[in-house]
Amino acid sequence: MKADSLDVTGQVAEIRDVASSIRMIRFDVPSGILNLEAGAHVTFDVPKGDRIMTRSYSVVDDGRHPDKLTIAVKSEEQSKGGSRYMWSLEPGDSLHISANGNAMPPTYLASDFVVLAGGIGVTPMTGMARTLKRTGKPVRMIYCARSAEEAAFVSELREVLGDNLDMRYDSDKRFLDIPELLETVSMDTVVFMCGPQGLMEAMKSAWAERELPVQNLRYETFANSGIHPTRPFQVTVAETGRTIGVSEDETLLDALLASGHDVLSDCRRGECGLCKVHVVEATADIDHRDVFLSPMERARNDCLCACVSRLNGGHMTVNIDDILHGRTG
Ligand code: FES
Repeated sequence: MKADSLDVTGQVAEIRDVASSIRMIRFDVPSGILNLEAGAHVTFDVPKGDRIMTRSYSVVDDGRHPDKLTIAVKSEEQSKGGSRYMWSLEPGDSLHISANGNAMPPTYLASDFVVLAGGIGVTPMTGMARTLKRTGKPVRMIYCARSAEEAAFVSELREVLGDNLDMRYDSDKRFLDIPELLETVSMDTVVFMCGPQGLMEAMKSAWAERELPVQNLRYETFANSGIHPTRPFQVTVAETGRTIGVSEDETLLDALLASGHDVLSDCRRGECGLCKVHVVEATADIDHRDVFLSPMERARNDCLCACVSRLNGGHMTVNIDDILHGRTG
C-alpha cells in the first residue's frame, strides 16, 4: 500500500521518552494497513479550540512493533501547538491520521550507502537504515546530536548497523567533518540525509564542489525555525477583502483555510512551495521558515510559504490566487 492511501483513526498505544526532548508515540491502527516505505510522512489532525490543524511527522521504524504506527516528536519551545499537543497525548487517545507522501524514497541503485542524520532528523533514518541494510550492500550511518541524552533510537540503530553507526556528539566535540566524509564516498555512493538546515546546506555545497552526481544526494528537509519569535499577526486577503487574525499557535495556512479561503498545500513542511501566497504589503518583517524559496525570492519579500512562514507581528495583505507556485527567481 502506498503512503498516500493511509486514512485512518489511530489510538495511542504507547508513549516513551526516547531522548531528553524527544517523545516516541506508538499508535494502534487498523490491521493490515501499514506498509509505509522508509522516509514516509504521516499527517495528524490536531485540534485547536474548535479548529483542526494538521501536523506531519516521519514514520519511525525501530523494528519493535511493525503492526503499529510509530512517530517521534521533539518538544519545541516555539511550538505553534503541534508538538505541545502531541506531547500532551495519553494512552487511549484517538487521532485521525492520513499520509502525505515521501520526499526521500529509498533507491537501491548504488554501490554503498551513507545515512546522515542530525537531531530529530533521525526519525526517517530509522527505517532508511533498516531498509538499506536489507540490500546486502555496505551501509554506514553518521548521527549527529548535541549529546548522548539528546540522541534517540541509538540502541535500535546499533542493532542494525553495529560498528557502522558513527555517533557524533557535540558534547564530546566530535563534530562532523564533511570534506573528510566526502573523501570516503565514490561516484556510486548514495547519501540519504535529514537534519538541521545548516548541516544540509553545508553538505549540499560540499557535494556540488566535489562534482558528485546530484541524484546521489537525497535528502529531506525540516523547515527552519525562523529568526523571529512566533507572534500573532493580521492578514487581509485581497481577493475577499477579509481580515483575519493568525494566533501564535497556528500557521497562516491553517488560519486561511479555517476562515474559508482556498489555498493549495501539500507537504506542510515548507518544502514544496504549493502554499505560496503573494505579499502585497506588510508592516513587519516576513520570517521565512521554509526551505523552498530561492534566496532571491526571500530577498524580494513579496511572497511566503503559508504553511510555515509568518509575519513578525503587524499586518499584511496577500493575494492567494493568480500566483505561480514554482520558484520565480
Ligand atoms: S505546503 Fe509545501 S511548502 Fe507549504
